[in-house]
Amino acid sequence: MSHLVAPSILAADFTRLAEAFALVNESEADWFHLDVMDGRFVPNITFGMMVVEAMKAMAAKPLDVHLMIEQPERYVEQFRKAGADVITVHQEACPHLHRVVQQIKATGAKAGVALNPATPVVMLEDVLEALDLVLVMSVNPGFGGQKFIYQSIPKIRKLRRMLDERNAHALIEVDGGIGLHNAEEVLRAGADVLVAGSSVFRSPDPRATIARLKAIEKERFFA
Ligand code: DX5
Ligand code: ZN
Repeated sequence: MSHLVAPSILAADFTRLAEAFALVNESEADWFHLDVMDGRFVPNITFGMMVVEAMKAMAAKPLDVHLMIEQPERYVEQFRKAGADVITVHQEACPHLHRVVQQIKATGAKAGVALNPATPVVMLEDVLEALDLVLVMSVNPGFGGQKFIYQSIPKIRKLRRMLDERNAHALIEVDGGIGLHNAEEVLRAGADVLVAGSSVFRSPDPRATIARLKAIEKERFFA
């Protein structure tokens, strides 16, 4: 499978959301990445399920909903109803992670778990086989436009090895500070899905940038 590209709507112009959705619909992008923040798990607040539902009406591609919220189990069904195709919760927000993963799957959505930069991949060892996606945060969550944390590269490699050893099918998604300057290295480390916010929407031609992110050839190196 060739890699997927998921533009992060957080970096779009919120006064012209319909245009941003049309642009992604017409581009080579695979998913819409939607960042939900509650002002508690992360310092920032973005939008909730009502806005996700409105976005669903504009989206011709799957919605990849990244919940940066405390107690996400309280809202899983509502985000699914709003149109989420992938629902990702943070490991750090879920003492009963296994249960939340089952809860997401029971709604029919794909289940993802995100790891903050300081959380080691080993924290997912006992739940890995149940996951559809692991989101490696390559910045501290909360804001777009931050610098890629380089330690994410060996972390992606380690996760790739863990998944391969277990024959587990979860996709590795990487989120934060990704652009044309580092996408190839991220893919080579073993990523399957690239999230890109500022590098897409702040570029002079977002659609062309998406096409270039899609065109990068991946060769995996197992170091
Ligand atoms: C950060 C969000 C990211 C963000 C990425 O908390 O999870 O999805 O939008 O933005 P860039 O690509 O600008 O780092
Ligand atoms: Zn995100």
